[in-house]
Amino acid sequence: MTAAGLTTTQAPFIEEARIAGDLYIQQPYDLYIPDNHEAWARLYERMLPLWEKYANRHFLKGIENLCLDPNRVPRLDDVNKFLNPLTGFGAKAVAGYVPAYMFFDCLRNREFPTTITIRSKDTLDYLPEPDIFHDIAGHVPMHTDRAFADTLVRFGECAQTAAEIVSEIKDEHERAMRLTSIIKAMARFFWFTVEFGLMKEGNRLTVYGSGLLSSYGEIQHCIESPDVQRYPIQLEWVINQYFEIDHYQPLLFWVDGFDHLFDLVGQLENWMKEGKLNNVSPGEPEVNEADLLSFLHRTVR
Ligand SMILES: [Fe+2]
Repeated sequence: MTAAGLTTTQAPFIEEARIAGDLYIQQPYDLYIPDNHEAWARLYERMLPLWEKYANRHFLKGIENLCLDPNRVPRLDDVNKFLNPLTGFGAKAVAGYVPAYMFFDCLRNREFPTTITIRSKDTLDYLPEPDIFHDIAGHVPMHTDRAFADTLVRFGECAQTAAEIVSEIKDEHERAMRLTSIIKAMARFFWFTVEFGLMKEGNRLTVYGSGLLSSYGEIQHCIESPDVQRYPIQLEWVINQYFEIDHYQPLLFWVDGFDHLFDLVGQLENWMKEGKLNNVSPGEPEVNEADLLSFLHRTVR
C-alpha cells in the first residue's frame, strides 16, 4: 500500500497501468487508504440532502436500488450486482481517458467506463477530471433506469453510424473536417443532457445530469440561481452551443422525460445522416486526435 492510495493524480497504480498501456483494469480495492474512504463519506453525506431536494426521481430511485455504502468507496463488483439485473449495464474500471468512439461503443455494449480514483479529501469541491464519486454517485444511479439506459445505448449506435458515414468519404481532409464536426455535435449533445441535463417534472425542474448531481455547489445553483438560463431542449441549439468546463454552467436545457431524450438521440442520428452535423458552429469542445482516430479505426478495445 502507498501513502497516496487511489487519490486522483497521485495513484502509482494508475500511472503504472497507463505506462503499460492498460486502459481497462481491475479495481484494486485494497489500495484505497482511509483518506479515500473518508473523502467518499464526506462527499456522500453532504450531497444526500441536496439530492433529496433537487435530483430527478429516477436518480433517487437509482441511489436506493444500488445500495451504495455511504461510508466507503464502492466496489464496482458490488455496484454491478445490483445494477446489472435492472438494465444490463455495468461499471467497467478504466485507468484514464477513453477516446470518444471507444467510450460510445462501451455504452452500446452497456458498459460504463468508470474512474476508480477519488479526489483528495482536502479538495472536495474542485476537480478538473472525473473521479469515482462523479462516475458512481453521479452517473451510475441513472443507469438503473430502463429508458435512460436505452438512451445511452442509442448514443453508442449513433457513434457507429458516424463511423460508417465518414468511412465513405474519400478525401482525407474532408473526412477529418466532417468527423470533427460530428463528434463536436455529439459531445455537445451528451454534455447538455447526460452531464448537465435538467428534466421537467410536473411544474418544477429537477436534475439528472451527472456533472450537476456530483457537484455540491452547482446542484443548487443550477435550479435556484437567476444567473442560469434554462430552456426546453432544442437540438439545433444544443449541437451549435459551445460550453466551458471550468465554471458553473450559465445555460442549461430541460427534457420532458427519458423517452423524449431517447427520441432526440434518434433525431440526432437522422440529422447526421442528412448531413446537418457536418458543419456545426466552431468552439468548445476540442476534438483531439485520439478521438478522431478512434472513429476512423473504429477502435473498440
Ligand atoms: Fe461525466
